[in-house]
Amino acid sequence: MSGPCASGTGEDPREPAESVGPVLVVIPTYNEAANLPPLVERLRREVPEADVLVVDDDSPDGTGRVADRLAAADPAVHVLHRAGKDGLGAAYLDGFRWGLERSYRALVQMDGDGSHLPEQLPRLLTALGRADLVIGSRWVPGGRIVRWPRRRQLLSRGGSGYSRLLLDLPLRDVTSGYRALRRSALTPELMADVAARGYCFQVDLAHRAVRAGLRVVEVPITFVERTTGDSKMSREIVAEALWRVTAWGIASRFRTLTRRGHT
Ligand code: GDD
Ligand code: MN
Repeated sequence: MSGPCASGTGEDPREPAESVGPVLVVIPTYNEAANLPPLVERLRREVPEADVLVVDDDSPDGTGRVADRLAAADPAVHVLHRAGKDGLGAAYLDGFRWGLERSYRALVQMDGDGSHLPEQLPRLLTALGRADLVIGSRWVPGGRIVRWPRRRQLLSRGGSGYSRLLLDLPLRDVTSGYRALRRSALTPELMADVAARGYCFQVDLAHRAVRAGLRVVEVPITFVERTTGDSKMSREIVAEALWRVTAWGIASRFRTLTRRGHT
């Protein structure tokens, strides 16, 4: 595959990767009190140059207070408290805005339950040297999933396949939540009215990036299912993603048709 949004490793040895500058890792949390401290510790050890922003939706289990303690002990760790559970996408958008108000050049999305390995972040950041959006992919060669039941693997593959087909995306893992973005990619247009509630935020953002002609690459990651706490994935989130992707697919096709009609 070629072109500006070719999926690949983004690690072409012929061109040296430029460093993108200060990095902010945004971690949305809802009931991750037990998972957050070991994750932040690993992240600070593996990528000490990156700052961390925890975006907590007033988790009933006190994750917000845990995050405040981590922030008090380490000036590179910050916390954004939101009033209540308002969806993964909304939490990311608030986190991105926080980063854009400051001088960060790269923004990273990472789950708060340990599923995304901090050890693999340098690989994403290296690829960002020659891309605008890097997607940590479970479904490219070298990508792996640990401890996911077959049912969940099928859901992820099916969701990616369906989005890829309907939205014409040259991507294998459209719903991945482990990503790195250049500051310049997060334009007001890209962020405006992005689907913010469920996990279809990931699909919408990838679709908008490809449509905007940004350089999108995938690098293989190992996704390790959490051992503590519960996934917030629900039947409602899957249903919402399904109808939204279908609607976006129809709207895209319609746009292409009307464009053709005018030329
Ligand atoms: N602040 C906030 N608000 N955080 C949230 C919310 C919310 O409404 N919903 C979920 N989170 C946080 C969780 O606490 C966790 O840190 C992260 O978002 C991912 O949520 P999980 O519930 O652990 O997601 P998952 O493991 O089922 O889903 C994974 O796969 C999806 C599909 O591929 C994630 O990587 C998703 O990002 C991905 O889209
Ligand atoms: Mn998870």
